[in-house]
Amino acid sequence: MTSLLPPLQIGPITVGTPVVLAPMAGVTNRAFRTLCREAGRSGGFDPGLYVAEMVTSRALVERNTEALRIVTFGEDETPRSAQVYGVDPATVGAAVKLIAAEDRADHVDLNFGCPVPKVTRKGGGAALPWKRQLFTDIVKAAVEAAEPHGVPVTVKMRKGIDDDHLTFLEAGRIAESLGVAAVALHARTAAQHYSGQAEWEAIARLKEAVRTIPVLGNGDIWAAEDAVRMVEETGADGVVVGRGCQGRPWLFADLAAAFNGSDLRVRPGLREVADTIYRHGLLMVEYFDGDEGKGMRDLRKHMAWYLKGYAVGGEKRHELALVDTLAELRERLDALDLDAPYPGEDAEGPRGRAGSPKTPHLPYGWLDSRDLSEEFEAKLREAELSVSGG
Ligand SMILES: Cc1cc2nc3c(=O)[nH]c(=O)nc-3n(C[C@H](O)[C@H](O)[C@H](O)COP(=O)(O)O)c2cc1C
Repeated sequence: MTSLLPPLQIGPITVGTPVVLAPMAGVTNRAFRTLCREAGRSGGFDPGLYVAEMVTSRALVERNTEALRIVTFGEDETPRSAQVYGVDPATVGAAVKLIAAEDRADHVDLNFGCPVPKVTRKGGGAALPWKRQLFTDIVKAAVEAAEPHGVPVTVKMRKGIDDDHLTFLEAGRIAESLGVAAVALHARTAAQHYSGQAEWEAIARLKEAVRTIPVLGNGDIWAAEDAVRMVEETGADGVVVGRGCQGRPWLFADLAAAFNGSDLRVRPGLREVADTIYRHGLLMVEYFDGDEGKGMRDLRKHMAWYLKGYAVGGEKRHELALVDTLAELRERLDALDLDAPYPGEDAEGPRGRAGSPKTPHLPYGWLDSRDLSEEFEAKLREAELSVSGG
């Protein structure tokens, strides 16, 4: 069997299969990553890289309990990959130092892709690379904090704010010049949010602009075949997969197989799906230190994703989306028609967040200049508070 691509080199870390689980706030916690990685290595292949949910630099520096929980990994999880969001160079530097010096992760990704209005309205997330000096200062602070500990830093970004304000080529080159180990592009602008289609052509352009470090492509990979197509069409050195694996951790088995030249594909019947949901439940409870209520509440959002396309009636779905305990979960799963086969197409294709394009909310006058005024500096610090999502 021949591999589609050579291993991905992220600084000192070699990732045999160049497939990355995209960081997703509220989704890619330790429990879900465990399921994805198990699937990824089920065919005997290297499973790839699995990034934790983003954590805000300020919360981390303040040693907030939930922030520290986000940066926890499975016992055999390697490499351990964390993502940091921040808008202030000093705070981001301190957060990355905390992770690297205390050996809390092997790799740190920086989030410059968040399109959420409450973030971009203050100049954070996907709006930030527009202010090129601030972007430079943040990336530099992160790389300098991580370097002494041998921890590579990567950058994840969007194409820009909108089609008239693209930042990805410049941001990619800046990141490369500052010692970043790889860049990933979600090939949408902030204005596109999650709507329409990712423009993979932009990944090809980034690949031309950034020559000395790996370029990873992200956006609209729903099946292993999409990932192969993205690599072939763009020349990307690896792929980053988000929504396509929501409720389908076994997608990583397909991806690892496809990248290693195998035709193996996982097509689970309802019994296997139910087993995975229950296991997810157990792992969630463990993640929340035995708190069943918390674990079940966090599991609920996954239910509709897991059951997409399967023959399960509305009432049963509804009950599953309201579970409070593991015993209830077991009982409600056992009440399904577990012999139902894989439904085919109905379980495939786009899933998760979609929505429509939105004019990005930006600070007044943000687009007038590529430099940051003092007035904006104060606003930006607020952008760090209570952020979730990308
Ligand atoms: C629920 C959800 C949460 C997300 N959270 C983050 C995040 O914490 N950090 C980040 O960089 N991107 C985040 N994203 C964006 C994804 O990492 C990814 O870039 C995006 O979903 C496009 O990839 P896809 O088409 O494979 O889903 C999130 C996306 C979703 C749907």
